[in-house]
Amino acid sequence: LASDAQSAFDAASDTDALEAARVEFLGAKAGRLKSVQKGMGKVDKADKPAAGQKLNAVKSSVESALESAMKRLASGGSGAAREAFDPTVPGRPFRLGHLHPITQTIERMKEIMGRLGFTAVEGPEIEDDWHNFEALNIPLSHPARDPLDNFYLSVAAKGEGDSSPAPAIGPDGKPLLLRSQTSTVQIRVMEQRIAAAAEGAQPPVRIVSLGRVYRPDTADATHYPMFHQIEGLLIDKHVTMADLKSVLRMFCQAYYGEQEDVHVRFRTSFFPFTEPSVEVDINWQGGWMEIGGAGMVDPNVLRAVGYDPEEVSGFAFGMGVERIAMRQHGIKDIRDLYANDVRFLSQF
Ligand code: PHE
Repeated sequence: LASDAQSAFDAASDTDALEAARVEFLGAKAGRLKSVQKGMGKVDKADKPAAGQKLNAVKSSVESALESAMKRLASGGSGAAREAFDPTVPGRPFRLGHLHPITQTIERMKEIMGRLGFTAVEGPEIEDDWHNFEALNIPLSHPARDPLDNFYLSVAAKGEGDSSPAPAIGPDGKPLLLRSQTSTVQIRVMEQRIAAAAEGAQPPVRIVSLGRVYRPDTADATHYPMFHQIEGLLIDKHVTMADLKSVLRMFCQAYYGEQEDVHVRFRTSFFPFTEPSVEVDINWQGGWMEIGGAGMVDPNVLRAVGYDPEEVSGFAFGMGVERIAMRQHGIKDIRDLYANDVRFLSQF
């Protein structure tokens, strides 16, 4: 009877089954132990003490079997399932994220330019006509102002009777836009320095600015309507084109230095805000890849912010951050950088 009870309790897979087994063996009215107890009356008087002892022993072994079956169910699951947990197996590591490749590139560029003495500054992504065009010597008739080449902002219609969205107007009474170049920050910084000049601040100005710019280009392997530029500006006495060339060469060599000996090439070009102007190329796969533009700050720009071009000169450059990162990592399609596919991003 004790071993019957033991196996019935072990077989119980839930509390209902265990309760049914308990009633079968330990039930107060018709339990199997009870019926044995009832039979005690017929046992010979001489045998009674031994039979009584035997009954008590069976009863306590059935009770302790029930107790351990209850514990087993309370602790959840069968003994086998609990043995399957092996505390010596190493845990699964957490998946750690990391910085986006473009953010990594930006941090690295800031660090290199910092060593060359350039302080990183930021400017707004929504710009006015003055900072994006006018102060940069880009006249009203210039194609760079074309609405097809810029994201001009508008304010939503206010409701009934106010049918079409109106252009968003800046503090200068002219349309606001998402900046199409980080050269805007050159103007902002020079204006701030000049305003502070009353309190004694003079050139040099030695800054870089890294941030997003926007142009309504159709996305393809080399274009995206939003990308990043690194803008540099140095204003001082006796700054020359030679300074510009050495800074850009040192920057490129520091950036790619671990990978290879990089060559920088300058081609004459035109920008309204620099004179003379150059286009900057670096060698890549047996040819040249354009990474940006640069030049000596145009006297008209110096005058627009309040510097005297007879007193100070300077250089400026603006380069594509994505281009530089794509060459570094061998990325073939700029869209991969912005598709947010973890399989791609986790490689960097
Ligand atoms: N702003 C120019 C561009 O976006 C690049 C540039 C910056 C050129 C500074 C000269 C000087 O194409």
